[in-house]
Amino acid sequence: MTQNTGYNLLKGKKGLIFGALDERSIAWRVALACKREGASFTLTNAPIALRFGALNQLAEKTGAAVIPCDVSDYKQVLELIDATREEHGKLDFILHAVGMSPNIRKGNDYTNLNYKLMQQTLEISAISLHKVLQACVEKEALSDGASVVALSYIGAQRVFSKYSDMNDAKALLESISRNFGSRLGKRGIRVNTISQGPTKTSAGSGINGFDAMYDFAEKLSPLGNPTADECADYCISLFSDLTRKVTMQNLFHDGGFSTNGISEELIFELAELNTGKK
Ligand SMILES: NC(=O)c1ccc[n+]([C@@H]2O[C@H](COP(=O)([O-])OP(=O)(O)OC[C@H]3O[C@@H](n4cnc5c(N)ncnc54)[C@H](O)[C@@H]3O)[C@@H](O)[C@H]2O)c1
Repeated sequence: MTQNTGYNLLKGKKGLIFGALDERSIAWRVALACKREGASFTLTNAPIALRFGALNQLAEKTGAAVIPCDVSDYKQVLELIDATREEHGKLDFILHAVGMSPNIRKGNDYTNLNYKLMQQTLEISAISLHKVLQACVEKEALSDGASVVALSYIGAQRVFSKYSDMNDAKALLESISRNFGSRLGKRGIRVNTISQGPTKTSAGSGINGFDAMYDFAEKLSPLGNPTADECADYCISLFSDLTRKVTMQNLFHDGGFSTNGISEELIFELAELNTGKK
C-alpha cells in the first residue's frame, strides 16, 4: 500500500486534541495525521498523564502546545478552552479520545460495581464531552462549521461482558454527542462519534480479556480490525470540509464487525472445535 503523504485537507484549520498518552494512542495518531494535513492544534491530557506519558515528544514533532486538563473538572476545562482560544482563536475541530474505568482496572464485575468508581467512569469517559462542549458554548470557542469527534465503542449498543461499566459510559457519550449535534447544527457545527474496533493501546490493553475480544473481532470483520492510523484517517475526513452535512451520527469504523453475523473463518474454527480437531 502506498504511504499517504497528505491532501492538505485541514490546511489552516485549528484544533484541540484530547487523549494522546503514548505513540499507540489513537489521539497520538490523529495528531500526526492532522499535522500531515496542514492543521495546527493544542494537545491536552490529565496532569498525571503528562507526568508519566510521552506527550512532550509529540508536541515537539507537531509544534503543538500542551495544556494539562483533568476533563472531569469543569473549572479546568473552562481554563483549557480559554487558553486554547487565546492561542488559536476559534476552534475548527476537537477530538475527544478520553476513556477510563476504575472498576475495570480493579477487576470489578458488572454485577459488583463500586458506585463511586462508576461515577468516575461516567464523568471521565462521557460527561467530559458535555463539559468540553458546554465550555465551548460558554466561551464562544467553536467556529461556524466546526467538527467535533468523540471516540466510542460498540459496547454502547451490544453487551461486551469484560467492558463492564464502559458499555454504559459509551452509550451516554453517544447520546451527549447527538444532543449537542442537534443544538449546534444551526451554525453548521457537526458532532459525531466514531465507533472504533478494538485497537492495541494503553486503554485497550487495560481490559481483562482484551486479546480475546481483539481476536474475535479480527475473525468476524471482513476487512479486519482497524488500526489507530486508519482511525486517524477517518477522523481527518470528519474534520475536513468534505463531510459538512454529517452530524449526530455514530459511525462504525470496525472493518464490518457491527454488521457481520458470523464469518467463514469462525464457522470453520468452531466446526473444528466441535469435531474435536482442536
Ligand atoms: N483501544 C480500543 O480498543 C478502543 C476502541 C474503541 C474506542 N476507544 C476509545 O478511544 C479513546 C482513546 O483511547 P485509546 O485506546 O487511544 O487509549 P489511550 O489510553 O491511549 O487513551 C485514553 C486517554 O484518556 C486519558 N484520560 C484518562 N483520564 C483522564 C482525565 N481524567 N482527564 C483527561 N484525560 C484522561 C488518558 O490519559 C489517555 O490519554 C477512548 O475513548 C477509548 O475508549 C478505544
